[in-house]
Amino acid sequence: MRQISVAIDGPSGAGKSTLARAAAGELHYLYVDTGAIYRTIACGLRRLGVDPKDAAAAAAALGGLRVEIRYGEDGLQHMELNGEDVTGEIRLPEVSACASAVSAHPAVRAHLLEMQRELARKENVVMDGRDIGTVVLPDADVKIFLTASPEVRARRRFLELEQRGTPECYEKVLAELLRRDYDDTHRAAAPLRQAEDAVLLDTTKLSFEESLGELLRLIREKI
Ligand code: DC
Repeated sequence: MRQISVAIDGPSGAGKSTLARAAAGELHYLYVDTGAIYRTIACGLRRLGVDPKDAAAAAAALGGLRVEIRYGEDGLQHMELNGEDVTGEIRLPEVSACASAVSAHPAVRAHLLEMQRELARKENVVMDGRDIGTVVLPDADVKIFLTASPEVRARRRFLELEQRGTPECYEKVLAELLRRDYDDTHRAAAPLRQAEDAVLLDTTKLSFEESLGELLRLIREKI
C-alpha cells in the first residue's frame, strides 16, 4: 500500500519540529526530523576534526560515518553515529553552526537523500526540513511551508534557551537566526524555498494550539 507523506519545510525557529511532531502524534504517523540527520553528520565531522566548510574533506569522510535513526519506546527519534546515541549532543549550539555549513555541500545532501526517501516509502510520515517538498519528497501528499517573522522566531528560540538553562541575549539569537536564514536560502544546493504546490502557514500571530489546529486542518483537507 502506498504510504502518505506530509512535507513541512521552513526556516529555523518557525516551530516546525514541535508542530510536526505533535501533528504526527495526532495522525499516528512517523515523525522524521531531517535536521537531526544533518546535525549527526556535523557531529561526526567535528569529532574527526574536519573543517565543516571544506566540501572535499567532508565528502571524503562520509563513508566513515554510519548514521542511523532509532525510534525509542518513548516514540522519540534518536540519532546514532557509528552505534553511539548522539541525540543530546547534536543540539549543542556549536553543532548547529556546523550543521548549517555541512548541509550546504551537494555530496552530503546526495548521501542522505535515499535514507530520507526510504523512510517515507515504508511509513506514513510527517517529515520536516528545508527541501522536503522541493527535493526529497516532490510527490508528497501534503506540502506545508511553515514560517513566522524573524523577530517572533528569535523570541521563541530565546525563551527555549532560557528554559533549557542555557540563556543567550535576544540580539545575539536574532542575529544568528538571520545569518542561518541567509545561508539556508542562498546556498546553491537545495536552498530553502517554498515549493510551488506548498501551502504557506504563517504562525507569527498564532499560539501553539492555534498553529497546530491550522496545520492539522490543512493536512486533513488534503488526505
Ligand atoms: O532544522 P535544524 O535546525 O535541526 O537543521 C539543522 C541544519 O540542517 C540547518 O542549518 C539546515 C540544515 N537542513 C537542511 O539543509 N535540510 C534539511 N532537510 C534539514 C536541515
